[in-house]
Amino acid sequence: MANYFESNRYQHVSVLFQESVDVLGPKPGDILVDCTLGGGGHTALMLERVAPTGRVVSFDRDMIAIEHAQNKFAKAIASGQLTLVHAPFGEVSEQVQALGLLGKITGILADIGVSSHHLDEASRGFSFMHDGPLDMRMDQSSGQSASQFLATAEEKEIAHVIWKFGEEPKSRFIARLICEMRQKKPLQTTKELADLIASKVFWKEASRKHPATRTFQALRIYVNDELSQLEQLLRDAPQVIAPGGVLAIISFHSLEDRLVKEAMHALTGKTKRESLPRDLPLTQDKIDEMTQSRGQIIKPFPMVPSDEEIKNNPRARSAKLRAIRLQ
Ligand SMILES: C[S@@+](CC[C@H](N)C(=O)[O-])C[C@H]1O[C@@H](n2cnc3c(N)ncnc32)[C@H](O)[C@@H]1O
Repeated sequence: MANYFESNRYQHVSVLFQESVDVLGPKPGDILVDCTLGGGGHTALMLERVAPTGRVVSFDRDMIAIEHAQNKFAKAIASGQLTLVHAPFGEVSEQVQALGLLGKITGILADIGVSSHHLDEASRGFSFMHDGPLDMRMDQSSGQSASQFLATAEEKEIAHVIWKFGEEPKSRFIARLICEMRQKKPLQTTKELADLIASKVFWKEASRKHPATRTFQALRIYVNDELSQLEQLLRDAPQVIAPGGVLAIISFHSLEDRLVKEAMHALTGKTKRESLPRDLPLTQDKIDEMTQSRGQIIKPFPMVPSDEEIKNNPRARSAKLRAIRLQ
């Protein structure tokens, strides 16, 4: 495995850097979880905010991110302030329990999706902008790569994945192209897949969006089971977090943001409250008891990056931060 730390190739600019840690309201002595360590930007700020007596537990399913952080945070790890966990954040409940911290966590942040390292490093196979093996796994030690999926799945299943996770209107046509192509030669590189789509799907070169964009997004979400991971986190976070603690999630596309918005809304009990007869004389406590409110949304609208942040880091442009304080 390449040494990304020594060659300084692990690059990522944290999105909504201050805002996403501030919203957790961290204090010295708190115990925070960073579900998505990546380049360690948010983890570093969390460590600063909870010092000198607090702790941070940071997850990443990508061993390269973990190895990079082992070097970057060697002192904090040695002093017990930082614990790194190489696991998917869908396992947050089990992992935090194993550390004896269940119910003691005062804030969880998840900055979901891929890092700039994933997109910029051709060998990871995430981007049609760089030619590399069609892999797309965040955890290269397990699961099937995108090229294995495309080599073995039925055409119907490929079309379904491209439609469901990429919302690609030409999903069936693209799935057929892939299956016709694999009879001659399996698709093994990002360039082969991108060129195949670009050569057959009508697109205006002047348009800013490459015609393979949605297919690449879909395959990445499918290969890494990203939406199930998010659903699991949303289900388990209320048991992991101490009363009064905060769950904050940064998402980057509408499929994820919809899940976050609906789950947080449900935790407030609002969904069911709306179905209660309006003329019942109920106190707020009674309503909360009846609707099992588990939390309060911190801001009614998602926080988004400023124009300046987007100018400096265009990859931040679709980020949305939502947060809920749990009871
Ligand atoms: C957008 S980056 C996070 C960047 C980080 N907040 C920073 O400041 O550098 C997302 C990271 O989360 C990891 N990741 C994505 N989904 C994951 C999951 N389900 N479980 C664990 N890690 C995940 C990716 O491997 C990647 O390193």
